[in-house]
Amino acid sequence: MRHPSRARLAPFAAAAALLIPLAGCTGAEDGHGDGPDTGGAHGTPGAAGLRDPYFPHLGNGGYDVQHYALTLDYDPARDHLDATAEITARATQDLSAFNLDLTGLTVRRATVDGAEAAAERAGDELTLRPRDGIDRGKVFRTVVTYSGTPRKMTDADGSAEGWLKTKDGALALGEPAGSMAWFPGNHHPSDKATYDVTLTVPEGLRAFSNGVRTSERTVGGRTTAVWHSAQPMASYLATVAVGRWTTTTSTTPSGIPVLTAADPAVAAGSAALMRRIPELLAWEQENFGPYPFSSTGAIVEQDGDAGYALETQTRPVFPQGSFDVGTLVHEMAHQWYGDSVSPATWKDMWLNESFATYAEWLYGEDFEDTPAQRSFEKAFAEDANWAFPPAEPPTARDLFAPPVYQRGAMVLHKIRQTVGDDTFYEILAGWPAKHRHGNASTEDFTTYVEDVAGEDLSDLWDVWLYGDDKPAKP
Ligand code: ARG
Ligand code: ZN
Repeated sequence: MRHPSRARLAPFAAAAALLIPLAGCTGAEDGHGDGPDTGGAHGTPGAAGLRDPYFPHLGNGGYDVQHYALTLDYDPARDHLDATAEITARATQDLSAFNLDLTGLTVRRATVDGAEAAAERAGDELTLRPRDGIDRGKVFRTVVTYSGTPRKMTDADGSAEGWLKTKDGALALGEPAGSMAWFPGNHHPSDKATYDVTLTVPEGLRAFSNGVRTSERTVGGRTTAVWHSAQPMASYLATVAVGRWTTTTSTTPSGIPVLTAADPAVAAGSAALMRRIPELLAWEQENFGPYPFSSTGAIVEQDGDAGYALETQTRPVFPQGSFDVGTLVHEMAHQWYGDSVSPATWKDMWLNESFATYAEWLYGEDFEDTPAQRSFEKAFAEDANWAFPPAEPPTARDLFAPPVYQRGAMVLHKIRQTVGDDTFYEILAGWPAKHRHGNASTEDFTTYVEDVAGEDLSDLWDVWLYGDDKPAKP
């Protein structure tokens, strides 16, 4: 990888924000913006990507988002979105320009701290150049007004994300990159922020999102709901679901409000499972520690609207077709593993899926007379789980492949066999407590486990986490 010096690139910055080269912004996150004065705004452009091993252009450097206030007006009949994104961020370097990730849609206007900013588009990058530059450490407010028909995106593995048209409205799914289809932002899991999402839809339809609904009212034939996420959220976990809904509310034994919304076509079929949320959440809290968010629930779509379930924060989405108690337990477990403790990069994805899969194994053990040992042996016997080591998916297409889930869960089971149940359960709850509402990497995890276990586990990591070959025996 090339590492050109910032000094060499700085002269280009003011003239051509569009050309912000990814590799040229090495160190931008902790840089001091000390490049030569370019005559206009001081500072240097923030990096156009965070060099994620799988998605190098995802996210942006030079700032850290604190809060998104999104105002979305959606008309399903025209599949048209009119929106404003108000982004509060802190500059981590002197910035002459910075990027937001956005795909499709038309940007009408952009301001930074109330003053018009030049906006340019190139691919999935929106570059904003404020007139005066932004000082390192400053908290600044960007407002982007945009509209259009949001895109459905196709992932490397062929599945659909982004903005999905449903039979009665729309559904936004964002893992790993789909949120750029409906709002401009720093769309890498490492930049978490709080959210307020205000959704307006034609009367008769309703819009659901993450967190707590703070108001909903109908005026002049349009219904507006306001959703608040008080705990930090990675943008891939943000969701919007517009349609007709059958809703239920309840409270968990520890007092967490539950709000579920099911498409009327599948509401009856999913009702029995929905009713189990409080009990399952209490069981997960016993094993994983305090629930990290202030609300919970689910969004259930009808067959064909979504191709998979997703752990959208506080309110996971389920496609009716694959909805069973294992899936419910899995997506609820992600609230600790993935949502509260989010991956540092997409390479750390196995940390999400291993724990969520292991939660299913634990459910089998506690509720269905299937010891985790048996689930482990079954996974061990399956060839597809050995295609590659879980911590090293060969390409972005493999991020959701069986080794990430099943072999990842096998790694956890090997830890359990090695350290014993007491220490293993301490790790299950201790890990999400240590990185609550933050980000963590594979190395953070292996270091943490060795600390708690008080022993060197390199052999376990070498064979089960990083090894190319299947071990001779389980
Ligand atoms: N993280 C989701 C789960 O709970 C799966 C997302 C699948 N997405 C995809 N692009 N294949 O397992
Ligand atoms: Zn999962």
